[in-house]
Amino acid sequence: MLTVPGAGMQAHILLPDYRELPEEDRLQLCAHLLRLAPASRYLRFGIPTNDETIVRYSQSDHGSDPVICCAHIAGEVRAVAEVYMTSEGWPFSAELALSVEDDWQDAGLGTELMARALRTARSRHVSRLDMNYLPENHRMRRIAAKFGAHSTPRESGAGMITVYFEPLGPGYSPSFGSELRQ
Ligand SMILES: CC(C)(COP(=O)(O)OP(=O)(O)OC[C@H]1O[C@@H](n2cnc3c(N)ncnc32)[C@H](O)[C@@H]1OP(=O)(O)O)[C@@H](O)C(=O)NCCC(=O)NCCS
Repeated sequence: MLTVPGAGMQAHILLPDYRELPEEDRLQLCAHLLRLAPASRYLRFGIPTNDETIVRYSQSDHGSDPVICCAHIAGEVRAVAEVYMTSEGWPFSAELALSVEDDWQDAGLGTELMARALRTARSRHVSRLDMNYLPENHRMRRIAAKFGAHSTPRESGAGMITVYFEPLGPGYSPSFGSELRQ
């Protein structure tokens, strides 16, 4: 059962339901991102982000074939892993972003979605999965370390750290990333 600090009594009666978000339900991604508090939005996007920017982001194309994995709780999308393909041919690469609504953070949703994102990437033969986050993002640093992230010497824009995972490689963590957790 999910223990959710900040979610009060709901924590003891609600279980997350993990599903892929179909394209026709992308408005739910937008609504989820809009519910992030300013500090979480800042950590998610690396810059202060207003509603208009989030709406525009949610409506944009982002290239081919994104996979959005969600945790639904009581019918609402409360946490999301967005996997965007960044190469069209082999070797395949992709980029990952995670977001968990504030009242549901620190309950393991981000870790579970990270595992699912890695499985998704592996099933699409992605050899390199990139992720950017701010240096002060302690939760993200912890999750990245748990899943064997490799650091890169370069920083992306806005002073973000870039790490990458190898879903097909020897660094793939069977304890977190395998089908055993399904
Ligand atoms: C980052 C984020 C996705 C993590 O999701 P989450 O569901 O809160 O994370 P989890 O509960 O699965 O794991 C958090 C881990 O960080 C650890 N942690 C929490 N606060 C910490 C701190 N101050 N210092 C170090 N570790 C910390 C937790 O103990 C846990 O590690 P554990 O599983 O080993 O105990 C979520 O907090 C979020 O959406 N933040 C805003 C958006 C964002 O930062 N996105 C990432 C960049 S794209």
